[in-house]
Amino acid sequence: MTKPMVYVTRQVANEAIAMLEAVADVEVWAEDRPIPRDVLLQKAEEASALLTMLTERIDEELLMRAKRLRIVANMAVGYDNIDVAAAKRHGVIVTNTPDVLTEATADLAFALLMAAGRRLVEANRFLLAGGWTSWNPYLMVGQNIYGATLGIVGMGRIGQAVARRAAGFGMRILYHNRSRRPDAERTTGAQYAPFDELLRESDYVVLLTPLTEETRNLMGEREFSLMKPTAVFVNVSRGGTVDEAALYRALVDKQIWAAGLDVFQQEPVPLDNPLLSLPNVVALPHIGSATYQTRLEMARLAAANIAAVLSGEEPVTPV
Ligand code: DGY
Repeated sequence: MTKPMVYVTRQVANEAIAMLEAVADVEVWAEDRPIPRDVLLQKAEEASALLTMLTERIDEELLMRAKRLRIVANMAVGYDNIDVAAAKRHGVIVTNTPDVLTEATADLAFALLMAAGRRLVEANRFLLAGGWTSWNPYLMVGQNIYGATLGIVGMGRIGQAVARRAAGFGMRILYHNRSRRPDAERTTGAQYAPFDELLRESDYVVLLTPLTEETRNLMGEREFSLMKPTAVFVNVSRGGTVDEAALYRALVDKQIWAAGLDVFQQEPVPLDNPLLSLPNVVALPHIGSATYQTRLEMARLAAANIAAVLSGEEPVTPV
């Protein structure tokens, strides 16, 4: 009997590939760039399973052609690159990789918060450019972190992990979420706040919502205008949740103080994006979950989902 074919759209850990090889023939896009659309469409026609990255668009066009496809295992917790409703119509299971990346992503969110609040990147550039000619009491002064108020928008797993870190910094923690999270309130001391109140009161606003039609451009001109002129905005969700032109204006007009961004509307972010020209923006190339250990766990979980479905079992982490 011929084995089903699994197509993997980027090189991932050998361990994950070995898990797939136990149940299928495995092909991998081995180049260090996203798989071209035409190659993906052609491979999807032959594959029973796709192990995808957030760079691959899984839509009606692909699903129509992918007659053998049974599962798309996205190696990310976010799945806004996948038309889940269309997948359902075509009887294709979609899985993601929650939990395994929670702590690494929360670490990165907190690192961005600290880097933007204490001007770490700007100070490093200043030193390297020879600007440090004397100590002075106002050299690269930033904002307090310890004891400040943190507003978390999106109190899912990662939001709660950020709140646990903030508790160690003596922060007052506000959160906004579609539904209240009494468990998180108990474990982290976070208090629920209406969205506008959170924006008005927070010294740091960290955005962690998934990108949906409801959260697209959630942060726009009105929202930034509610924030404190000393506030720092951090985005570790998806670039589509922020109106970047409004953020740029808010930073230039000093409606807010700084921003830390791991995600952008267009990725890779074009170097002429005006946000990159501002000294008070810390910009990262979407590395929220990028640790060796976490990427291994993400690949293993995606492979485990595929192995389960191809063996006729329930997926581990269905969307
Ligand atoms: C995710 O998992 O959605 C991240 O953005 C990718 O690491």
